[in-house]
Amino acid sequence: MQEDTLFSNITDVPTDPIFGINDRFLKDTRINKINLTVGIFIEEDGKSALRLPSVRLAEEKINQIGDNKNYLPIDGDLEYVELTKKLIFGEGDISNIYGAQTIGGTSALRIIADFVKNEVAEHISIPDPTWENHENVFRRVGITIDKYPYPEGMYDHLSKLPAGTVVLLHAMCHNPTGHDLTKDEWEKLEILFRKHKLIPFFDTAYQGFGTGIQEDALPIRYFVERGHECFVAHSFSKSFSLYGERIGALFIVMKSPELVDRMRRNIRSLIRTTYSNPPRHGAHIVKLVLQTANLRNMWELEVDHARNRMQSLRKIFSQKLREKMPNRTFAYLDEGHGFFCLLGLTNGQIDRLRDEFAIYTAGRSRVNLTALNNKNIDYVVESISKVIV
Ligand code: LMR
Repeated sequence: MQEDTLFSNITDVPTDPIFGINDRFLKDTRINKINLTVGIFIEEDGKSALRLPSVRLAEEKINQIGDNKNYLPIDGDLEYVELTKKLIFGEGDISNIYGAQTIGGTSALRIIADFVKNEVAEHISIPDPTWENHENVFRRVGITIDKYPYPEGMYDHLSKLPAGTVVLLHAMCHNPTGHDLTKDEWEKLEILFRKHKLIPFFDTAYQGFGTGIQEDALPIRYFVERGHECFVAHSFSKSFSLYGERIGALFIVMKSPELVDRMRRNIRSLIRTTYSNPPRHGAHIVKLVLQTANLRNMWELEVDHARNRMQSLRKIFSQKLREKMPNRTFAYLDEGHGFFCLLGLTNGQIDRLRDEFAIYTAGRSRVNLTALNNKNIDYVVESISKVIV
């Protein structure tokens, strides 16, 4: 009999729809298993590029000059924050933007969510579909969540939201669809936000993997130039292949630079009571790369390489899928950007793909395109066609 413990009634929470499936993949003993789940960049040889040459050289430099292990300030390394700010907002006057280093993009989302709940709004509208963790992060802080259909029906839905609603937008490489808005669509959206007094909250986890490092920042810069106050949650996990270093940033764009100090005190108090202050190493690497001309050039080429690999796999994969299943619509697959696409499979089909063919996709049949390669792509396409019939 189960002993009565304090914990016998704890809530049984479902496993994470991305990392939970990844864990299951790791336990699978079949030798032909294929992991299309977590969004990490994988090269053609099936290995992940966990140390970009630019990162390796920056680390060598850090070892030479010696790092110290003191606490960083509560909102992180100031130089790192300023360099990141420029990468996102450009070189103009950005004195009205408060920034803080965060633990990856997730803690940027969480700290902003805390702030929004305390100071700005009780509601947030998030795309449907969106990254699986968005909803959980916002639910944790007790904000009520509205979901707007993405992309079809988006404008209509958003135009009915109450003024002052915070709206989450993927600035580039929408996760999970891969479908991004065109320049004209962003312009239309900006007008809608202004007219209905909505507050943009940009998630920028993939800067550089859409159309280019500078190009991907243009939607945010466009909103900022037109006077919007907004939030940005940024991550370098993917663009620097620094997943485990948990390096990100948050930014809050304000109309008035005089408010930056008050904002700093407010956000610092949220960070201090959540994780005190961020870790040093990832920030040190990113800072050195961004401020050292040859390392920065190297990194920009590495980002170009990653983006090109995603784009070419997207083309090859969609072509092969359509050849095999000409009657099937693989929504947004050809014209998408970034790591991901959706296969549009049912849960039953996702389970069959895993159980019968040892192919693991994330929730909603999301595929990390870079996990495909010459050796496995035909088997993946063939298996998908078998579960779809
Ligand atoms: C993903 O969507 O696979 C990545 O962003 C990893 C994560 O944290 O979920």
